[in-house]
Amino acid sequence: MTNSKILKIKVLNPFQLEQIDQAWNDEYPLKLTKRFGILLDGTDNHLYYLMEDLDNKVVAWGVMFEKEAEKRFSIIVFNKFKGFGYGRRIIDEFKKDHSTFYGWVIDHDNDVKSNGEKYISPMPFYLKLGFKVLRDQRIDTEIISAVKISYGV
Ligand SMILES: CC(C)(COP(=O)(O)OP(=O)(O)OC[C@H]1O[C@@H](n2cnc3c(N)ncnc32)[C@H](O)[C@@H]1OP(=O)(O)O)[C@@H](O)C(=O)NCCC(=O)NCCS
Repeated sequence: MTNSKILKIKVLNPFQLEQIDQAWNDEYPLKLTKRFGILLDGTDNHLYYLMEDLDNKVVAWGVMFEKEAEKRFSIIVFNKFKGFGYGRRIIDEFKKDHSTFYGWVIDHDNDVKSNGEKYISPMPFYLKLGFKVLRDQRIDTEIISAVKISYGV
């Protein structure tokens, strides 16, 4: 069971940071392991959106930040809590707080997670939630192949 509220906090406590880092390493492709800190390097105005269970353990989180004069986000739902609407709730909260924002999304299923399972692209989730794909804006490196998406542009 989770708390129904989404907590919004600017600075994480060490316990929250550890869990967010863990979700990143578990749920993203192996090639992105330990890069959560790098995501926020050189970015401003961080606001974390946390959903926790009744023992204050994080089950889903998002972060909104500013980079290159854009609002950008990242979001992760812990594996056993996927498919219960938590991702949608966090995105809905982003939408309440910001009319326009951007993210980068891996748009293929070729990467592997640390547990050996495939990383499945979340693109269908974003299309369902009204995001647009900016097809000409891509990152294609050895570490990540992703496309930029926007909401409200
Ligand atoms: C992508 C992610 C945030 C979705 O969160 P979630 O809580 O599982 O999604 P929800 O339960 O809110 O789903 C909302 C809708 O999207 C659909 N959906 C979610 N993920 C989907 C997927 N991979 N493929 C197809 N549909 C999907 C759900 O079926 C649901 O549809 P419905 O309302 O018609 O039933 C979550 O799977 C996740 O954290 N993945 C790993 C990390 C990641 O990829 N983060 C995004 C990086 S850009």
